[in-house]
Amino acid sequence: MSSWKGIILAGGSGTRLAPLTTAISKQLLPVYDKPMIYYPLSTLIQIGIREIAIITTPDQQHLFKKLLSDGSQLGCHFEFFIQEKPTGLAEAFLITEEFIKDSPTCLVLGDNIFYGNGLIDLAKEAMSSPAGATVFGYRVNDPERYGVVEFDKENRAVSIEEKPEFPRSPYAIPGLYFYDTKVIKIAKSLTPSKRGELEITDINKTYLSEGSLRVKVIERGVAWLDAGTFESLLQAGSFIHAVQERQGLMVGSPEEAAWLNKLINNERLKELAEPHKKNAYGRYLLNLVGNKNANN
Ligand code: DAU
Repeated sequence: MSSWKGIILAGGSGTRLAPLTTAISKQLLPVYDKPMIYYPLSTLIQIGIREIAIITTPDQQHLFKKLLSDGSQLGCHFEFFIQEKPTGLAEAFLITEEFIKDSPTCLVLGDNIFYGNGLIDLAKEAMSSPAGATVFGYRVNDPERYGVVEFDKENRAVSIEEKPEFPRSPYAIPGLYFYDTKVIKIAKSLTPSKRGELEITDINKTYLSEGSLRVKVIERGVAWLDAGTFESLLQAGSFIHAVQERQGLMVGSPEEAAWLNKLINNERLKELAEPHKKNAYGRYLLNLVGNKNANN
């Protein structure tokens, strides 16, 4: 079987964050000390995915290319794709069909931020059973903003709804999804929802009705933040700042993730840190090399 591929969906209209997003994509906005897309990108690298498709709006693709290059500097391979119009998350699989080929795929939303090793373990578990699909449930105060999963008494998923007015459970489905190769066929069979989008929730409902959807509840120790509103963008930045200050460890650095996964060696990490050596980001990366756990 082919190895897992990743997709970062970083298009959209960004209307909820205008005027912040009038001239620049949401996923390039800062979340404390890094561009937002660094966080989902680091998640993919941490879970061992090296081949990654990055989907953007047509007019901003050059900015993402400038920021991320082709991935070889991180021991990865990035391919860039365009979504002409924000017609839904499920379109990601139609846009990247040639890239996915016969691989299972992990889709992460470009504005979703995950923190905590518990999530990495869950993701790796999902990738160890590639048949069917795996999504997660995360308890939130405002499930009506999200895709919502309902469980029965045996903790089996029984229903999934997109932004229900009256949620049947407090469990939102975060923007990190694992699918087998059938996802392309399912995406092709979808029709637009009432809001005119090809919904990821409809893909998940198809897997659910076929009995091949696993839904794992994310434990309390893991943080999931989406940075799609003024409030949540500020909260995400404050959260990252607080965690980094307290622990002295970086959250969401693709360079560190690549180095920890031994995709790059100390020399390469130093080269990547060099342009930033006058600030805390570069100094942090340089310190990793000096650390006793350094890679060869
Ligand atoms: O954040 C998790 C939630 O994401 C899920 O619980 C929902 O089931 C799912 O539908 C989605 O909800 P939102 O309506 O909040 O997604 P939003 O429109 O904000 O888009 C999520 C990201 O995907 C955002 O970074 C923009 C990008 N996007 C969105 C659309 C609709 C695209 O790149 N293309 C698109 O067509």
